[in-house]
Amino acid sequence: MTVPKTILVTGCAGFIGSNFVKTFSERFPETDVIGIDNFSTGRRDAVLPKIVFYEGSVLDSGLLEKVFAKHQPKYVFHFAAIPRVSYSVEHPRETTENNIIGTVALLEASKNHSVKRFVYSSSSSVYGGAAKTPTKESDNPPNPKSPYAFQKYAGEQLCQMSSELYGIDTVSLRYFNVFGPGQYGDSAYASVISGWLEAIYFPDKNKNPFIEGDGEQSRDFCYVDNVVEANILAMRHPNPLKGDVFNIAYGERTSVNQTRRLIEEMTGRKLNLEQRPTRAGDIKHSHADISKAREMLGYDPKVNFKEGLKRTIAWYQQRSDK
Ligand SMILES: NC(=O)c1ccc[n+]([C@@H]2O[C@H](COP(=O)([O-])OP(=O)(O)OC[C@H]3O[C@@H](n4cnc5c(N)ncnc54)[C@H](O)[C@@H]3O)[C@@H](O)[C@H]2O)c1
Repeated sequence: MTVPKTILVTGCAGFIGSNFVKTFSERFPETDVIGIDNFSTGRRDAVLPKIVFYEGSVLDSGLLEKVFAKHQPKYVFHFAAIPRVSYSVEHPRETTENNIIGTVALLEASKNHSVKRFVYSSSSSVYGGAAKTPTKESDNPPNPKSPYAFQKYAGEQLCQMSSELYGIDTVSLRYFNVFGPGQYGDSAYASVISGWLEAIYFPDKNKNPFIEGDGEQSRDFCYVDNVVEANILAMRHPNPLKGDVFNIAYGERTSVNQTRRLIEEMTGRKLNLEQRPTRAGDIKHSHADISKAREMLGYDPKVNFKEGLKRTIAWYQQRSDK
């Protein structure tokens, strides 16, 4: 594949989007990166200064028309979303509008401006507690159990439908519990790793770190660089992907208790966690089978959980030293 002249990245001020932009720009310095973000959860300081940045929402069709007409991106990486399960349970309408209509608006602009491939960020939440682990895409039909999971699944279906109806090539990547530098743990919706590290390094910003249930629940934690790599591979794939769906994870699971022990060991600090009951509807184990992405996309996650945790802790440490 030739290196694209221009790509569009939505959600470029967010955790995964900003990591993607950084790596992509280093790898393909000749490509123009156009970014859109409305800072609903993203941060101004995460926008790489050298990209062409538009502050605004992907719901704004006028803005999309202007951006697509001016820059003619050949690839769209759609990271923008309001991405918290519990927030979506509290705000079903707002998140449905943002996450579904936003995706439709981008697909429409992509169709009108002959985008070559649309790479969509989906989520393991679409499985809704997969019947079988390690979870394979083919044996576990989606069963969304929250507005967020439903919205992500709707996005996948819209991608597939757009490939069939309009011939835009699309692909959906179902990420499992992503973590790494750039993920702040200072919101009520923070994940275990970022919430706990924030509590260790910035106790003023997360005063109430907690653990739910017996801590034996486990997750397939995936370091962000692996997810970034998967997006690049999805772009480079030589054949049409036609809305196909791929699990993107490390392919191993780690319990919340093990994660706590490792964090305490690696930081040399003790976590004082409030004990909370298991969240209603929370799944016990999440573990991906990543063989489809390995075989079809050549996905080979390089950074394992411990190494990823080491790098993430280094990032927190560095911020706290400033
Ligand atoms: N972090 C994870 O573990 C995880 C797991 C599965 C899927 N995902 C998906 O990956 C993507 C990125 O997630 P993240 O963790 O980086 O979240 P994030 O909240 O850090 O980033 C999302 C970004 O999208 C922006 N945004 C939201 N709505 C927008 C709109 N209407 N217009 C423009 N910008 C908008 C936000 O301001 C933010 O910068 C999301 O689509 C999410 O659903 C994330």
